[in-house]
Amino acid sequence: MLKRFFLPLLLLTLLGTCVRAQQEILRSQTALRVINPRVEYRSGNVSIDVEKPRFSWELTGEGRNRHQTAYELKVLNEREVVWHSGKVNSNATNQIGYNGQPLQSGLQYRWTVTSYDENDQASTVSGGMFRTGLLRFADWQGLFISHYVGYDTTDLYQDLYLPPARYLRREFTVADKQIKRATAYTTALGLYELSINGQKVGEEMFLPGWTDYDQRLYYQTFDVKALLEKGDNAIGVILADGWYAGYIGYALLTRQDKVREFYGVNPAFMGQIHVEYTDGTTEIIATDETWQSSTGPILEADILMGEHYDARLEQVGWDRPGFTPATPWAEPRRYTFPSGRLQAYPGDYVMPRETLRPVKMTEPSPGTYIYDLGKNIAGIIELKVEAPAGTKITIRYGELLRDEDGGLMTANLRKARATDTYVTRGGGVETWRPRFTYHGFQYVELTGLPTRPAADAVTGIALSSITTDAGEFTSSNTMNDQLFQNIKTTQAANFFEVPTDCPQRDERLGWTGDAHVFARSATYVADVAAFFTKWLIDLDDSQHWYGAYPNFAPMPFSRPEQYSPAWMDAGVIIPYTMHKVYGDTRVLEKAWAGMENFMAFQADASTGHLRPGAGNNWGDWLTTGPKTSDDFIASAFYGYDALLMARMATALGKTDRAAHYRSLFNDIKAAFTKKYLRPDGSTTEGTQTALALALYFDLYDEAIAPQAAQLLARAITENGDKFSTGFLGTKHVMLVLSEYGHHDLAYRLFQQTEYPSWGYSVVNGSTSIWERWNSYTRDADSNDAINAAMNSFSHYAFGSVAEWMFLHALGLETDGPGYRKLRIQPAFSREMDHLEGSYHSINGTISSAWKWSGDELTFSLTLPPNTTAEVVLPLARAGTLRESGKLLKTGKDSPLIGERAGQTLLRVGSGSYTFSWVEK
Ligand code: BGC
Repeated sequence: MLKRFFLPLLLLTLLGTCVRAQQEILRSQTALRVINPRVEYRSGNVSIDVEKPRFSWELTGEGRNRHQTAYELKVLNEREVVWHSGKVNSNATNQIGYNGQPLQSGLQYRWTVTSYDENDQASTVSGGMFRTGLLRFADWQGLFISHYVGYDTTDLYQDLYLPPARYLRREFTVADKQIKRATAYTTALGLYELSINGQKVGEEMFLPGWTDYDQRLYYQTFDVKALLEKGDNAIGVILADGWYAGYIGYALLTRQDKVREFYGVNPAFMGQIHVEYTDGTTEIIATDETWQSSTGPILEADILMGEHYDARLEQVGWDRPGFTPATPWAEPRRYTFPSGRLQAYPGDYVMPRETLRPVKMTEPSPGTYIYDLGKNIAGIIELKVEAPAGTKITIRYGELLRDEDGGLMTANLRKARATDTYVTRGGGVETWRPRFTYHGFQYVELTGLPTRPAADAVTGIALSSITTDAGEFTSSNTMNDQLFQNIKTTQAANFFEVPTDCPQRDERLGWTGDAHVFARSATYVADVAAFFTKWLIDLDDSQHWYGAYPNFAPMPFSRPEQYSPAWMDAGVIIPYTMHKVYGDTRVLEKAWAGMENFMAFQADASTGHLRPGAGNNWGDWLTTGPKTSDDFIASAFYGYDALLMARMATALGKTDRAAHYRSLFNDIKAAFTKKYLRPDGSTTEGTQTALALALYFDLYDEAIAPQAAQLLARAITENGDKFSTGFLGTKHVMLVLSEYGHHDLAYRLFQQTEYPSWGYSVVNGSTSIWERWNSYTRDADSNDAINAAMNSFSHYAFGSVAEWMFLHALGLETDGPGYRKLRIQPAFSREMDHLEGSYHSINGTISSAWKWSGDELTFSLTLPPNTTAEVVLPLARAGTLRESGKLLKTGKDSPLIGERAGQTLLRVGSGSYTFSWVEK
């Protein structure tokens, strides 16, 4: 009897102990932790006006094969939960859209996320706050106001017209009650800086950002509670022309019908501050005619031309309460409300990102002082000087010094005056920073000082919309390490509100070709999700009525004929890149109608499925080699567009459109093959670029493609391991070489230092990526003369090699959208001793490193939780493949899958691995 009960009981207890023990082992793994919670790709004080904002987070935790099994999201307003997702069984950690009660205008929301790991252990974090903007037009009470400065009838082609900045002020009283919340909603046609009680609000600059102002204008939302005082308060606003009314691009150089005032003549400000008290009352102080207006010390303020500040004209206390001006301020003028939409800013703001102390100061001629900041940035300086009142200091900027006399090289700035002037107030040390201009420079020249300035008279302030901290790359070749730093520097300098081609000369436009060639590289250097979200709206807004995307966006020069094959394709390539890298389908939905129109325009312009090179044709811009025909390039890109459209249609579940574009691609491919490709793999063009584009765009028959890649490899080898390609060909040469296994050659190109190569610029001392392969040579007589009409030293297009560095050298590719599943296949080669790097993806940081020791290769890989990867390694000599020192065999729980297509295939989950082997 006893036995009958005892035995099963014993067995049960034993079983229970085993299960518990196993659970204990699992539990001893600490719970996965949620980090980096964001709304619409942004964190901190985010202001949004989208109906269903998207949430994201990352996970961190020890051990291997970790993943999320469920999540739970809660969004709360001040009183209640407005959305509770419930526990959702899913490993999704991003692109999760709000799905609760409609968000209300002008409110603050809090959100929390709980992530459950594989043991159902929960980690909850607060996602912080996000604020909704003023969602209804009726919420806006402010009027657009400005100070009227008259208008100079200057001949705009002869002289510069640079009006002074406008100043606006308003005093108001805060009641003797407890403030619950105080929010400023502000915008301007032009650029503005807002201050409250003498303090600048926020670090952001170049507000409200650049858009096609006739179509949309962004506003900002600031929490200003901490700046308010009980009793008397004052709001101050400085307004400048900016992109709205100032000089833009090369309009002056090419004498367009307009050279400035592309969107309007008078900058104007509009805004309102909502002071909400705990007793439920709200006071709104909005812009109207009761404000006061004037001019001040900023006598000129223009993005391209520079700023002129006369400190003697400062009106001390103008943005504080109780100010009595020497001459009375005027009543501001009212301006009409723009016709475009008023929306919350969706991107990342320009702000100071890095401070640079001079590394050297020289005096090339008496009284001319030049400060070297050590690298070529975009931004401003902070000037710190002491001189008698009225001393006029002229500040000029350059990317290079003249070899012959050490003077500042400014020939390449063209019509950008890029000169600031500061007139001292006197009476002690004074510091100043311009507000409404920026320059592309490494060197700063000061003239006009009565005595030698101090070594710290100049501090460089790099401005950018992005932080370049997504990727790291180092290797056994310091030249390549410097190259990566140069790419970072140049991307930071040009991801400035829009992706500009260059930051120094009279251009600084969002060139479409440059942007798409570099887009994927950009994602490895910085988190550019919000930045491109914003710019893709600009691109959509500037699409021509007949379907072509323009040469640059925003497109202020209303020139409908401006489009170009291989530039306009940015409208398809960048949305595709956003989906691939961030798993963003909303971007595709938004761009879809425009992309379809673009494809219809292309179909219309083609004959027999081939596109003629109509429009502005820059071809393989700045190539050093023979030209690839415009027709070839136009048709190749048309094919690529069709291929990407088919993939995007699939991602959006548009099956019919996917089939349509798939068959369009096949038609283009057939026509293209017939006209341009030969059975031996060669092209009618005979250029490296032609081979690279046709291969990368899948235009070759699978059977012939390896042969074509072989021809490309041979062409490069015969050219002394050098390419002869421009903006379009260069990155594709690298990608195609590695795709077809020509790794050694790719590394030789990568490490090449002879002209033309990346190394050539590095050994010539560059700190940035140049526009031309030969922008500068040390042995030229004078570098002033070289290509001065078009020679930027900060042009990211050739930095597109970063894509190959991360995708192939480090082997970090996503398998499907958004880096949830990865494909890790580093391009190992004897051409380098070691390489290491990491990429902070939307799912966390992935790192990869490999190094040779004798015949043995060691490859270390770390994957963040919630990701899995297929790892492809070369075949190992029998019995040499190890992981963390242990021999690897196929079998249950082993990451080793076996051999596939002459390679070793492994499948791993999150965690760190060290593989080593001797190659066969
Ligand atoms: C820009 C380029 C752009 C090109 C078009 C140049 O002036 O700086 O980068 O793509 O024009 O040819």
